[in-house]
Amino acid sequence: MKKVLAVVLMVAFSASAALAADTVVLKAKNGNVTFDHKKHSGANECKVCHGEGTPGKLTLDKDKAHKLCKGCHETKKAGPTKCGECHKK
Ligand code: HEC
Ligand code: HEC
Ligand code: HEC
Repeated sequence: MKKVLAVVLMVAFSASAALAADTVVLKAKNGNVTFDHKKHSGANECKVCHGEGTPGKLTLDKDKAHKLCKGCHETKKAGPTKCGECHKK
């Protein structure tokens, strides 16, 4: 039983390691933003955020993040658009 569980865990781990972590914490002075990468990348094409080519490290700053993240939430009328809904102290 233990052996089966170990294998299952290993498979689950390597599958997600090929992608990014399921959730990413984006640091901000006014409260860190917890981003559910798994949910977002399931619902959207990679290139929406990562651009063309192989998705890799995405460098965000305040303006880029607000445009990308808030922009889509506003357009889709889904997802947080208020400061405190993203920035949590
Ligand atoms: C809604 C926006 C969004 C979508 C869609 C998205 N990502 Fe990401 N991704 C991010 C953000 C934000 C990060 C974290 C910032 C960072 O450290 O790169 C990230 C990080 C990553 C990383 C880690 C890079 C590193 O070196 O730490 C990989 C790999 C990645 N994404 C792959 C994908 C793939 C593959 C898809 C499509 C299946 C995808 N992403 C879809 C926003 C997105
Ligand atoms: C292409 C569209 C799109 C982009 C880009 C996007 N989001 Fe979202 N996000 C959504 C949608 C749609 C929801 C609502 C999902 C739901 O209710 O199931 C959402 C929900 C959320 C939530 C609420 C909790 C959750 O996971 O459901 C947070 C927090 C969030 N997004 C943060 C971000 C951040 C931070 C970024 C930028 C790095 C970002 N989003 C970029 C579409 C997007
Ligand atoms: C959709 C989620 C979201 C919403 C809504 C949002 N932010 Fe942000 N904000 C972010 C992300 C993501 C970053 C970038 C973190 C990084 O640089 O990786 C950020 C960065 C910032 C920074 C820079 C922090 C630093 O340490 O450099 C400030 C200040 C800020 N936001 C203020 C606000 C204010 C004020 C509002 C409301 C008017 C707001 N944000 C709404 C997601 C959001």
